[in-house]
Amino acid sequence: MRTPIIAGNWKMNKNPKETQEFLDGIKGKLPESGVETIIGAPAIDLTTLVAGAEGTPLKTAAENSYFEESGAFTGETSPKALDEMGIDYVIIGHSERRQYFGETDEDINKKAHAILKNNMLPIICCGETLEQREAGKAESWVTGQIEAAVKGVSASDLAKSVIAYEPIWAIGTGKTATSDQAQEMVHVIREKIASLYDADTADKVRILYGGSVKPANVKELMSKEDIDGGLVGGASMEPESFIALANFN
Ligand code: G3P
Repeated sequence: MRTPIIAGNWKMNKNPKETQEFLDGIKGKLPESGVETIIGAPAIDLTTLVAGAEGTPLKTAAENSYFEESGAFTGETSPKALDEMGIDYVIIGHSERRQYFGETDEDINKKAHAILKNNMLPIICCGETLEQREAGKAESWVTGQIEAAVKGVSASDLAKSVIAYEPIWAIGTGKTATSDQAQEMVHVIREKIASLYDADTADKVRILYGGSVKPANVKELMSKEDIDGGLVGGASMEPESFIALANFN
C-alpha cells in the first residue's frame, strides 16, 4: 500500500518572509496521516521552511542539489549540507532544469546517487514534449529518461524514491493531461521499473503526476490505480489551495 504524496514545487517563487506566511497559513491544517505532504522551495527559503516544518507533518524538499558534496563549485548547493539542515527530498530532472540549465540524464543520475548517499530521497522528474507525444515517441522518451536516471540505484533505494511524470505541455499551461493519459504513462513507468528491477520494487515506488494539478482535478487524478500523488506548481503557492490538495480525499 503506497502512501499518497502531495508535493508542492514553488520554483523560483517566494522569499523567506513569504515562506513564513505560507507556513503560518497551513499551520495545523495538514492531515497527520494517510497522505505525505511536501513543499519544495528555493534554496534561499529552506532554513525558514525546515524550521516551520519541524513538529508538523510537512516534509521539505530542495529543488536542486549538486552531485559533489563540497569544493570549488561556485553557486552550487551541496547535498551534504541539505541533509545536515534537515531536508527530506530533492527534486531532480525537472524539465525547466533540463531546458534552461542544461541538466543532462547523466547529471540527474549522479544527483540521484548523491542524494541517496546523503540520507535524502530524490523526486525524479520526467516528461515528454508535445512534439514527442504527437510523433508517438512519448513512451520511449520517458522510459529512457527513467532508465538513465536510476542507473546503478539499488532496488531498496529506488523503492523509497519518488518519480514524477510531468508532460511538458501540461506544465503551467492550465492544460492537464486527462486522468487516463496520466494513468497510462505512469503505468508504463511502473512497468519499466518492474523490467529494470522487479515487481516488488515497481509496486513500492511512488509515481506522481505533475502538470496543472489543482484542487478541482486532484481527486480524479488520485483515483487512478498507478497515480500516487501530484507534484504541483501554481496551486501549491497559496495555503488554502495546498490544504485543499492535501485533503483531496
Ligand atoms: O513541478 C511542478 C510543475 O512543473 C507543474 O507546474 O504550475 O503546472 O502545476 P503547474
